[in-house]
Amino acid sequence: MEKRMDRYKLPFVTATKSRSKKAVPVLVVDDKSLAKATQEFLPAQKKWISTNGYAARPGDILAVPDEKGTVSSILFGLDANATPLNAGALASKLPDGCYRLVMEGDRQLAALGIALGAYRFTRYREQKRSNAEFIPPDGVDLERLAREAEATCFTRDLISTPTNDLGPGELEAAMRKLAARFKATVHVTRGDDLLKKNFPMIHAVGRASASAPRLLDMKWGNARHPKITLVGKGVCFDTGGLNIKPGSSMALMKKDMGGAANVLGLAMMIMTAKLPVRLRVLIPAVENSISGNAFRPGDILPSRKGITVEIGNTDAEGRLVLGDALAFGDEEKPQLMVDMATLTGAARVALGPDLPPFFTDDESLADALSTAGAELHDPLWRMPLWKPYNTMLSSRIADTNHITSGAFAGSVTAALFLQKFVGQQTPWIHLDVFGWMPTAKPWCPVGGEAQGIRALYQLIAERFAGG
Ligand code: BES
Ligand code: MN
Ligand code: ZN
Repeated sequence: MEKRMDRYKLPFVTATKSRSKKAVPVLVVDDKSLAKATQEFLPAQKKWISTNGYAARPGDILAVPDEKGTVSSILFGLDANATPLNAGALASKLPDGCYRLVMEGDRQLAALGIALGAYRFTRYREQKRSNAEFIPPDGVDLERLAREAEATCFTRDLISTPTNDLGPGELEAAMRKLAARFKATVHVTRGDDLLKKNFPMIHAVGRASASAPRLLDMKWGNARHPKITLVGKGVCFDTGGLNIKPGSSMALMKKDMGGAANVLGLAMMIMTAKLPVRLRVLIPAVENSISGNAFRPGDILPSRKGITVEIGNTDAEGRLVLGDALAFGDEEKPQLMVDMATLTGAARVALGPDLPPFFTDDESLADALSTAGAELHDPLWRMPLWKPYNTMLSSRIADTNHITSGAFAGSVTAALFLQKFVGQQTPWIHLDVFGWMPTAKPWCPVGGEAQGIRALYQLIAERFAGG
């Protein structure tokens, strides 16, 4: 337990008698509960609270001293109607010391907020962080806390790492390292072998890069268990290809492997919990680069599925590499296939950075995922696979185009393109994630962010592992 937490220096310590006695209580309050929570306080302490004008506004912290001037408790404002993950502010705002939470409401989520709020991306430089430590509140499932926090931080690290240290080769190494820890197997199809093994679209998108394109294939678990296949967009950098992106749009494109990072985080959770599933993770790992051999607008590509695809814009590369990976995953008829991808800017226009859309034709999967997302404060929003828009993808000379000529419903039409590569019988969910926190939240600094993986884990655990 302690050791696993140490991996990301999570701010929780095992409760010993002496620690628990010394720990400073953090009273989690709002404007309505403040009076009751402090009714036993000394008159001088009540005065201290009012002279400081403390009104338990969300995020506000006040240290309350005893007669000797030592801190006897901390007041922390948490809006009962907002996410308990906001408790993450404690992880960066409290002075060094040992604390224990006193709160009503969802302690599991508050503790997760603190664990995630303590995260910093320190690969290239130390970052300021507090050394506050917390005794886990009663009733918190510590294994779950550690599992969710570790996977989230792992995903964040992968996304925040720039492409010079995380190209297709390093993404392969990251998968191999994860696989070694859980005794999973990895098979990689690289470079021209992609053509021999019939992954023409993955090859076409990635061939212009100095780091060869590849399809990463990890398998774990008992072959007799339900087959769950996760597919992640692993575009380690997206220049846009010959349809080159303007500088401002390209600036953040190291995060275009956010889908891959998220499915690896989800896989880490599934394997840590030893869920009784046969897990498979497929990641087309490529760099969408520019060179004399780059694929071009107007090219017509063959695909693993057998349909011909006219290229409308080389910047819509994600759906191409995913198309071949989804078709391959579909061949063994998994009980569930989930893909995650930083696929469209249009998804951000529709729902913004914090609310990833998901697409599925399976009503019960959709309900279960929406419910899990709401319950776990891992927000997701269903959007439709609106079949009539398939006409927007038509091509005059190939089986399909991969983009539409207009600007309407970009996230929906991208999802419809992906659906062409998935068999009708395969339960399938597609998530169009942003993978990035553009403005700091109490539980996450600016940088890579996991989205939807706690909700997906819950869905998989409930459906295929009896809870
Ligand atoms: N990786 C981008 C999508 C993206 C952009 C995600 C910005 C998050 C933030 C993707 O490969 C892309 O460039 N999509 C194009 C598709 C278009 C050319 C049809 C887009 O969304 O503009
Ligand atoms: Mn692109
Ligand atoms: Zn992309």
